[in-house]
Amino acid sequence: MDKTTRKMLGAAAAHPNIAFIKYWGNIDDDLRLAANDSISMNLAALETATSVEFIEDDSLASDQLFINDTRIVQDAFDRVSKFIDIARNMAGIDLPAKVESFTNFPMGAGIASSAAAFAALSLATAEAAGLEYSPEFLSRYARRGSGSACRSIPSGFVEWKAGNTDETSYATSFADVTHWNLVDCIAIIDEDHKPVGSTAGHALAQTSVLQQARLDDTPRRFEACKQAILDKDFERFAEVVEQDSTIMHAVMMTSNPSLFYWAPTSVHLMKVIPNLRRSGIPVCFTLDAGPNVHAITTQDYAKTVEETLHSVDGVKTVIKSKVGGGTHLRIKK
Ligand code: DP6
Repeated sequence: MDKTTRKMLGAAAAHPNIAFIKYWGNIDDDLRLAANDSISMNLAALETATSVEFIEDDSLASDQLFINDTRIVQDAFDRVSKFIDIARNMAGIDLPAKVESFTNFPMGAGIASSAAAFAALSLATAEAAGLEYSPEFLSRYARRGSGSACRSIPSGFVEWKAGNTDETSYATSFADVTHWNLVDCIAIIDEDHKPVGSTAGHALAQTSVLQQARLDDTPRRFEACKQAILDKDFERFAEVVEQDSTIMHAVMMTSNPSLFYWAPTSVHLMKVIPNLRRSGIPVCFTLDAGPNVHAITTQDYAKTVEETLHSVDGVKTVIKSKVGGGTHLRIKK
């Protein structure tokens, strides 16, 4: 191919993940070195597909970002451009990139989209830049874009060992997609973008006097959660997942300034879901940095849980997802 029109292309797809042991706070905000280890599962039903092209002819003066066919020129653009700079530096490339990203879930639905976005972008960029990459490298690279994105690289049930350097902070799978047929039923309560995003939230974690207590107890919750998943012990799983979510929200609420993500319907569901469990249905709640409630259950009970959530006033819709695989290359359509 003529050198002046050579295009270096990569395309990849990734799922978001829901954390059972949450990541909240960094020891290094720039490198996104988490203050604690975390555990999550990927969500198969939700997907982001991204392509990256480094363009050598003169048709592109600077990077361009399109999300669901809309050109983005502000905050997300700067974050993406900076992220691609990391690969440009490693590969010795000085070319603008055209990035196109598509999600199959509503961007404004309040579901963390940055994990899937930066997981897919890391693989597409590494491929386009001609970098040699391993799963560990990709997880570390994705982490630089969004901490939780490092957990969307491996498949199924994933642990992120926080480490304390760029080299030691990455995620690996500890149980595959088929290990346990968990289903996440996400009760969508608010579709607006949250007033304070997670990046700003992480930076406030240390202002809460509860953060150190949360961090001190994390190894116990981490081991209990991992063992409950390996044993498929729903009771033990439910107890630690709900506790971990509430501890993180206690830190958020007691930060300075205070972050309060719950809506009245979120609180109502935090009563409804444990009551449902007491009636014999394996289900538990967890909430990220927003009001939407993730009800985790098993395949056999997913329909019942979905119907129960739908019947609650204030729940706009319910999105259901099984356990998902890792980030993978795809052919650009
Ligand atoms: C509450 O990974 O979204 O969802 O690194 O700034 O992009 P950035 O933060 P992000 O934080 C996730 C926070 C959480 C808990 C979790 O997913 O572990």
